[in-house]
Amino acid sequence: MSSNSYKTLDQAGSLAGKRVLLRADLNVPIVKGKGGQLEVRDDFRIQKLLPTIEWLKKAGAKTVVLAHIESVETVSLRLVAEYVNEKTMVTFVESFDALSAHATQMKNGDVTILENLRMLDAGEKENSVDFAKKLAQFGDVYVNEAFSVSHRPHASIVGLPKLLPHFAGPLLDSEVMHLSQAFQPLRPFIFILGGAKFETKLPLVQKFLTKADLVFVGGALANDLFAQRGLEVGQSLRAKGAIDLSAIAAHPRCATPVDVLVNTPDTYPKLPTEVSATDRILDCGPETVDYLSRMLRTAKLVLWNGPLGDYEKGFEQSTIDLAKAVMKSSARAVLGGGDTIAVLSKAGLLEACLSNEQIFVSTGGGAMLDFLANGTLVGVEALA
Ligand code: 3PG
Repeated sequence: MSSNSYKTLDQAGSLAGKRVLLRADLNVPIVKGKGGQLEVRDDFRIQKLLPTIEWLKKAGAKTVVLAHIESVETVSLRLVAEYVNEKTMVTFVESFDALSAHATQMKNGDVTILENLRMLDAGEKENSVDFAKKLAQFGDVYVNEAFSVSHRPHASIVGLPKLLPHFAGPLLDSEVMHLSQAFQPLRPFIFILGGAKFETKLPLVQKFLTKADLVFVGGALANDLFAQRGLEVGQSLRAKGAIDLSAIAAHPRCATPVDVLVNTPDTYPKLPTEVSATDRILDCGPETVDYLSRMLRTAKLVLWNGPLGDYEKGFEQSTIDLAKAVMKSSARAVLGGGDTIAVLSKAGLLEACLSNEQIFVSTGGGAMLDFLANGTLVGVEALA
C-alpha cells in the first residue's frame, strides 16, 4: 500500500465483471525491420505493463486499455497491440464504434486495446471534458498505469479521474516510490545527469545541488559548463540561448567529465582544457568512468538520467561502462530516460539491470525529470 494520497489498485475491491479503463503507456519505439516491415524495437514498457494486465485478467475485470503512440513510422497502435497479443491475449479495436460493439461482448478477464487516443480525437491532448466523458462511458473504474505520460495534462490522464473512481496502478505507484527516494536520500547520494538541453534541465541541476552529495553533469550538458568556465568547446553541441550557469559551474558539488572524446580524425581522449576550436566533444573518456566508478564504491543511492555521450552516433562506451559500474556497486540505483534505456537495451544490459534488486529502471523520460524537479506530476495529483 502506498503512503501517497492516492489509492492503489489493490484497494479497489472486487473487480470481477467491472469495466476497468487502464491508461497505459504503449508508446514504444517502432522501427523498420530488415524486410521493411515495422517492428517493436524495444518492449521494455510492455514488459513492465504485462503483470498489471495479468492481474486484471485474474481479477475478472473487463479491461479497456487506453494509450497513445508518437512515432514517425506509424500513427496506429495496431502493431503494438499485435505485439502485446503475442504475450497475453488482447483484442484491438480501431474506433469508438468498434469499441461500442465489442464492449457488450466482453467477458470477465477480457482485455481490449483501443486505437491511439491522440489519433482518434484531438480532445485527448486538449484535455476536453467531452472527450473524457466519451471515454468514461466505457468504464466503471479508472486506473492510471502510465507514469511516463503523467506529466501531460491530457484527457485520459487528468480528465478521466474526475469522472470515475480512480486508482494508481502498481507500476505507477512503484515509480513514485522509487523516485521519491531522491527527496530523502540515503547518503552518499550521487545524481548523474546526461543528455542535452540545459534549457530544460537547469532547474533539476539546481535542485539536486542542494540535495545530492555529488551532481555529475555529462553528455552535451557538460559542454555548457566547460564554456561557462572559459574553456574552448569547439563545434560541440550547446544549449539554445544564453543561460547563466555561473553558480552551477562554480559549485563545489558539481562535477563534469575529467576527460572527453572528440572527433578529430581519430577519436581519442583529451583533457577538457585541450579541446580545440575544430573539435566536437562526443563522449566522456575512460578517466571519467574511473572517477565515477570510485564514487560509486561508497555511494548509497545513485540516480541517473541521460546518456554520457552521443550514442546515436555510436558514442556509447562511457554510458555502457557506467552502467556496468552501477551494477557492480552496492548502492541503490534509479535509472531512466528513453535514451539511457536505448543504450542499455542495445548493449544487452537492460535485462541484467531489470533483474538486479538494487536497481530500479524507470519507464519515464520527461515524466521522470518532471517528477524529480517538482516532486509530483499532474497525473499523480489527479489521483488524489
Ligand atoms: C514518453 O514516451 O515519454 C511518453 O509516452 C510520453 O510521450 P509524449 O512525450 O509523446 O507525451
